[in-house]
Amino acid sequence: ERIRVIGAPLDYGADRRGVDMGPSAIRYAGLAAELASSGRTSIDRGDLSVPRAEERDPDAETPPNGSAKFVKEVRDVCERLSDEVADTLASGEFPLVLGGDHSIAIGSMQGSSRDAEVGVLWFDAHGDFNTPETSPSGNVHGMPMAAALGHGSFADTDWANASIDPENVALVGLRALDEKERLAIRESPVTAYSMSDIDERGITAVTEEAVEVASTGTEGVHTSLDLDWLDPKEAPGVGTPVRGGVTYREAHAALEIVANSGALRSLEVVEVNPILDSENETASLAVELAASALGKRIL
Ligand code: ARG
Ligand code: MN
Ligand code: MN
Ligand code: MN
Repeated sequence: ERIRVIGAPLDYGADRRGVDMGPSAIRYAGLAAELASSGRTSIDRGDLSVPRAEERDPDAETPPNGSAKFVKEVRDVCERLSDEVADTLASGEFPLVLGGDHSIAIGSMQGSSRDAEVGVLWFDAHGDFNTPETSPSGNVHGMPMAAALGHGSFADTDWANASIDPENVALVGLRALDEKERLAIRESPVTAYSMSDIDERGITAVTEEAVEVASTGTEGVHTSLDLDWLDPKEAPGVGTPVRGGVTYREAHAALEIVANSGALRSLEVVEVNPILDSENETASLAVELAASALGKRIL
């Protein structure tokens, strides 16, 4: 089916400015041509509009016992993104969402799961499992997975929750968790694979099992690719780099397994920050990896 590209140039969820230029950098790196050469047709619907940060107050809306900076702006963009993703699927197209920081996953997951049972594959150095109550930073890009599952004060909202069963969530490549976040992941029915699991079992076995977790009993899988999943040597243009990430080859191998599963329902690539990048290489990587996930083959 045709791919609909949706830009979500949101940087309210992160501390570092610049990730709002991610969608432009990814397009500039040749997204449309790469999709075409992968044998896919695509249409680019441009970017969702995002209010300018300089005119905003981070604490306009604060949860009673915690912090979620700019949550009002994040909610506003995520509500529109959720509608756009749901509309894309309803029209028989495939949603490819370009971030922006990872808080946009709240909108993508809600939109993708609106009319179907959906599992989630989360490729990330981080668990993004904080709530406003546990977050040490107050940055919403560290919270989208917990938001989608309705943890902490997200339970009292409707904009953040997705109808996703935690049994169908797989987090892959974890290597930087905050203390309370780590406990929350351990207590949750989600399946989490750290970098040690990848070291021990290899990327193929881990990804195949993760796909199994996300697709068993669901109608499709939303894949969320945070570019900091890769080692910062390969993907320097991210706001929260953590060394010891997956290699270029491992990343392609994993996304090809996702493509081969036939279960992919929606895809997002997030956290590309061209200001921190060198020669747009992280955006180029995002393009290549999206193409692998969407079926590009060498032979
Ligand atoms: N755990 C940290 C926090 O909550 C970092 C989160 C990084 N998330 C990301 N999507 N890059 O602030
Ligand atoms: Mn659903
Ligand atoms: Mn991350
Ligand atoms: Mn993330």
